[in-house]
Amino acid sequence: MAENLVIPQQASREEKYIALWPQLQALVEGESDYVANLANISAALHQTFSFFWVGFYLVRDEELVLGPFQGPIACTRIAFGKGVCGTAWKNLAPILVPNVEEFPGHIACSSQSKSEVVIPIQDENGAVVGVLDVDSNVLNDFTEMDVEHLRKVSQLAAKCMGYFIP
Ligand code: SME
Repeated sequence: MAENLVIPQQASREEKYIALWPQLQALVEGESDYVANLANISAALHQTFSFFWVGFYLVRDEELVLGPFQGPIACTRIAFGKGVCGTAWKNLAPILVPNVEEFPGHIACSSQSKSEVVIPIQDENGAVVGVLDVDSNVLNDFTEMDVEHLRKVSQLAAKCMGYFIP
């Protein structure tokens, strides 16, 4: 695997996603341990975009449990249907939250988190096996463009976890 990410610093966020994508694929290629791969995926997103918090929660016995992440310490367990992560799990769909204070039941791991996007990670049957959670310390920091690119990342995570995604 490459030792460094090559991301044009003056590029737009979308251009950075496009530059990052093949490097993310290369980063996980040839490594069979999904914890290692999810750790590097969260580090790569964090390093590229300087998001406040990037990480994974994984479904364990009907709960989401904190997985590999980059950023400040976070809550370790989230119930089905709770917070943004638990709601994305319940809805089987991404959630884009422009202002976390306006999301009913948002779980505030840090008061510095202002907006966030959560993408479910689904197996080949559509069952949620985890979520990718990206938090920003800037209000209204995400658009559908982020959702579109982060969906691809969540599919890559599913593949790392051994689920075949066509
Ligand atoms: N914001 C999440 C909780 C996890 S942390 O932000 C890392 C939520 O409400 O689901």
